[in-house]
Amino acid sequence: MKEKLLDLLACPSCGGDILLAYASKYEEKQIIEAVLSCKKCEREYKVVRGVPLFADLEKIEQDKAETAENFGWQWTHFTQEDQKYAEQFLGWLQPVKKEFFAGKIILEGGCGKGRHTSLAAEWGAREVIGVDLSQAVESAFQATKHLSNAHIVQADIYKLPFKKAFDYAFSVGVLHHTPDPKKAFVSLASKVKKDGAISAWIYGAENNEWITSYVNPIRTSFTSKINQPTLYQLSKLPTLGVYLASKLLYRPINKTSKPLADKLFYNDYLNHLGTFGWREQHNIVFDHLVAPTAFYISKEAFESWWREIGAREVEIIWHNRNSWCGFGKIEK
Ligand SMILES: C[S@@+](CC[C@H](N)C(=O)[O-])C[C@H]1O[C@@H](n2cnc3c(N)ncnc32)[C@H](O)[C@@H]1O
Ligand SMILES: [Zn+2]
Repeated sequence: MKEKLLDLLACPSCGGDILLAYASKYEEKQIIEAVLSCKKCEREYKVVRGVPLFADLEKIEQDKAETAENFGWQWTHFTQEDQKYAEQFLGWLQPVKKEFFAGKIILEGGCGKGRHTSLAAEWGAREVIGVDLSQAVESAFQATKHLSNAHIVQADIYKLPFKKAFDYAFSVGVLHHTPDPKKAFVSLASKVKKDGAISAWIYGAENNEWITSYVNPIRTSFTSKINQPTLYQLSKLPTLGVYLASKLLYRPINKTSKPLADKLFYNDYLNHLGTFGWREQHNIVFDHLVAPTAFYISKEAFESWWREIGAREVEIIWHNRNSWCGFGKIEK
């Protein structure tokens, strides 16, 4: 943890300033083991292996804890880097471009292994904080500790330990995995300053009826319940199907005949998946099957989120014909 992070932190219980009570271990000028305390209510928060911890997984609601456990396993095992992450990230953040990050103080809701936190830092953010509830923060910290403008914090998106100090917040593939996605979005938006901006990417209800009807029952009753090492092995089977179809059918047909490709089942997404190799496809299939909670959200419902926060200049863009990218500016 870099000491300058203290300036952006606020107690998740009372909003008070956070101070460094004492540190027992530093490494290369970073705080590795320490205790933070709230100036107002005097609650204490530990820093463990470089990450400040604001949510106790043993005390949190069971559905959130299960989600954190499953994704924690995922992001501490699928720690690979992929050269396509930058392009994929910008696809999810449409219409935002990479130049948008320069000089901004940025908050990421649900950073997983920190792949987007590090891109935001590399693209010139003044400071970027990646927050996650799960053990994934350990991977995220390892991936970003060398970047002087990147920070990782463990916290619940519903109880963010920050001041209203951000120029931009984004959340990619997270809100739909929380018990009340709109409420999580409103919580994230509440940390953005007036005239700042927010982006969110979520699963769409439209065109995903086959998932909600046939895949969801398997996910909720089986794949999210079994242990993750077993799912890791089992998920290689559907990955093989996706891999062969995307590489041998969807990619070649999309390159040769777009009208024919448009007739293929779930073409935009499977053609997009075909740009990734085996490891990343396995990660994506595993990600879909491991989540205990996943909402598929209609455009109409998504629009109501933006009205709820009173955003202006809102843009909602359909991505790969199966998900929604939203962007808007914060009015107050
Ligand atoms: C599908 S992953 C996406 C991670 C990252 N945004 C990415 O695209 O690589 C969802 C992440 O949301 C996190 N998450 C779920 N519920 C959360 C909550 N209540 N507060 C903070 N993070 C949460 C999970 O731990 C997981 O790392
Ligand atoms: Zn406090």
